[in-house]
Amino acid sequence: MLLAVGPNAQAADAPVTLKDVFKDHFPIGTAVNRSMMMGGAGFRRSAELNASDVATLKQHFNQIVAENDMKWQLIHPREGQDGYDFAPADALVNFAASNRMEVAGHTLVWHSQTPNWVFAGTNPPPPSATNPPPAFAAGNTNAPGTNRFGRGGFGGGFGRYTGPRASRDELLARMSNHIHTVAGRYKGKVKVWDVVNEALADGQGTNVLRTSLWSEIIGPDFVAKAFQYAHAADPQAILRYNDYGLENPAKRKRLIALIKELQAQKIPVHAIGSQAHVNVATTFETMDQSLTEMATLGLPIHITELDVNSAQGGQRGFGANVADNAATTQGGLVSDADKKLADAYAGIFRAFVKHRDSVKLVTLWGVNDAVSWRAQGKPLLFDGENRPKAAFDAVIRATVGEPSKSIR
Ligand code: XIL
Repeated sequence: MLLAVGPNAQAADAPVTLKDVFKDHFPIGTAVNRSMMMGGAGFRRSAELNASDVATLKQHFNQIVAENDMKWQLIHPREGQDGYDFAPADALVNFAASNRMEVAGHTLVWHSQTPNWVFAGTNPPPPSATNPPPAFAAGNTNAPGTNRFGRGGFGGGFGRYTGPRASRDELLARMSNHIHTVAGRYKGKVKVWDVVNEALADGQGTNVLRTSLWSEIIGPDFVAKAFQYAHAADPQAILRYNDYGLENPAKRKRLIALIKELQAQKIPVHAIGSQAHVNVATTFETMDQSLTEMATLGLPIHITELDVNSAQGGQRGFGANVADNAATTQGGLVSDADKKLADAYAGIFRAFVKHRDSVKLVTLWGVNDAVSWRAQGKPLLFDGENRPKAAFDAVIRATVGEPSKSIR
């Protein structure tokens, strides 16, 4: 980079920030936790470290999303109009407004972190309604040090709800009420909503949608209904379908099938959310291919939850099922983790920049390694004391095409 002089010169000691470096490409966002928005000490985080997280947030990011506080379990834990807890989400939108940040809302309809009452009713469950296999329950703890909320199951419990169920109409009414209340409250403040999260099936089977209480009780049109309710609740909001593992060709095929079907039905789906919980084996080519294919849908692509796992346990694939999270952070770090992480981030961001006509937002899933849901996989750009890592330098160099010069 030329050290320019004159009116456009940057002060030599001005820190390089993510949001500035990418300002001509896309906003750079991050997931935020409750203590960052409300102050004080956080979960295994002193008040001082929390304040340092907030400072890093303000310095580097211009878009935020609640890591947990807009999920059904947290924002609407009890049935009825007085069953909502809005305070943390209100704090987040106020924080964003005071700091000129955009907000994404996460998430209106999901099979995880949804309380049991949502699905409960008087219809006997089908004989097939059992909890997931024991492996799920046994391995079902999230990475230590990070997760207070939920364990990947329903209502924060160890398995999904197996009791008597609501009817289709009851569940649709609850969904409609929830979406109208939540999206309605933040109209004009939340720019984009994850309307449906993780509805696609994993693995090699032929089903497009995963089996969930939503799909079983309502049927596959629960996805379309959610988008219609969200559009009615906030006609200006960008409505996003969000999922993980889209770097995997089989999962991506399902995404394309689902979105084409919604488009054929004129359902208001406005953006693809690709979570991008990836690992250090991820290359430019993988991301390039993935973005090229997703872009054929003609919708903006938002990278919604980027992190790059460098734990041994996370190198097998691009899964991000919350129920399997603990396993993905086990086994210690891969060898030469810092360098592998930096190389992976360089390739990934090179692909984002190449596809900047489609990639309209890039959100990382956390400010730093210490607050990450995959803390043991050290997957982010800042360490636990908010020091930029080699991966941070790599992201910036890859983007400005500055191969050797130190950038801070
Ligand atoms: C995770 C949070 O980071 C954890 O704190 C929580 O315990 C479980 O959920 N896909 C998503 C996110 O859409 O909501 C998940 O967030 C990570 C995977």
